[in-house]
Amino acid sequence: MNTNINNRIYNIIPYKPGKPIEEVKREYGLKEAVKLASNESPFGASKKVLSAITAAAMDINRYPDGGCFYLKSRLADKLGVKSQNLVLTNGSDEALDLIAKVFLRPGKDKIITSSVTFLEYKITAQIFGIKVREVPLVDFKYDLKGMKNAITKNTKAVFIANPNNPTGTYVTKKEFDSFLRAIPRDIIVVYDEAYQEFVDAGDFPKGVDYYRRKNFITLKTFSKIYGLAGLRVGYALTNSEFAAALERVRQPFNVNSIAQAAAMAALDDVKYIKDTKQAVTSGRKFLCRQLEKMGINYIPSVANFMLVDVKKDVFKAMLKQGVIIRPMDMYGLRGIIRVTIGTQSENKKFIDALKRALK
Ligand SMILES: Cc1ncc(COP(=O)(O)O)c(C=O)c1O
Repeated sequence: MNTNINNRIYNIIPYKPGKPIEEVKREYGLKEAVKLASNESPFGASKKVLSAITAAAMDINRYPDGGCFYLKSRLADKLGVKSQNLVLTNGSDEALDLIAKVFLRPGKDKIITSSVTFLEYKITAQIFGIKVREVPLVDFKYDLKGMKNAITKNTKAVFIANPNNPTGTYVTKKEFDSFLRAIPRDIIVVYDEAYQEFVDAGDFPKGVDYYRRKNFITLKTFSKIYGLAGLRVGYALTNSEFAAALERVRQPFNVNSIAQAAAMAALDDVKYIKDTKQAVTSGRKFLCRQLEKMGINYIPSVANFMLVDVKKDVFKAMLKQGVIIRPMDMYGLRGIIRVTIGTQSENKKFIDALKRALK
């Protein structure tokens, strides 16, 4: 331990990236490998996005538009909000960082989230010296009542992923609204909707319906249904006062020019979004049917991934067959894996590999 390094840095459990596909292929001598480990879109880049990227590449000698002017106004139109309600970020991960910088006081404030949820909430809090209370899931779902009861005078914010990653479950509008009514008005609600576009349920609470609310921030990303995970674009949608504060602490050129152009093209590519959603919905049904036939339990999901209770450590056995999935051991869920819904051939490959791994 070097005493020059801030002590709390040693307590952070770092985010563990999965192995790159090429590395898995090399290590196991495989021709093909499929990555179903990070809830990305499996459908490649859309053609419209690619041509926007090519055009934007001509100007990479210039700094990006630091205010994301065009992307903001395009998004504002789409969402029916004002540009002043939007803060574009380097993936929604960066928005968590900005939120911590603006609102959370090290050593004083606490945040509340769920156990078995997106790990970046906890990691960000730890980086900033903020205490985290993780309320256990109930039936693999966020326990909003438990979270409300966990609020103390030091609680500054609650972080909610809806749908939740990694469980794929969601809280309904009724549950969410009664939670909002029950908590003190000065608690900041960070509502992370990274997977909202995959949800069909009519009783899902959409962040855009709450943006005028005091102390409410919705986080969105282009990494999932829009297929831009590699470019890092996300945004916060919130009241103009919060948005202005978040704008103050970001780096001047946090979203690069290629990412801005790609995000605008992705928003317009209605067909890519529709096709991706359809493929995820039918892929999810396919996986559920196959798992049922195999007598394997899974957690019903509304997102582009699902938890499967294989009751065995299959990670290595799957890897050897070129299928990269995410074991849930880090959450204490031994024998449970998370699989991202892939293309139809990837889904089949996953099922075949799982059958062999369980033999
Ligand atoms: C719930 C949740 N929020 C946010 C993110 C991060 O998204 P981004 O790629 O925009 O940083 C993820 C990524 O997996 C996620 O699962």
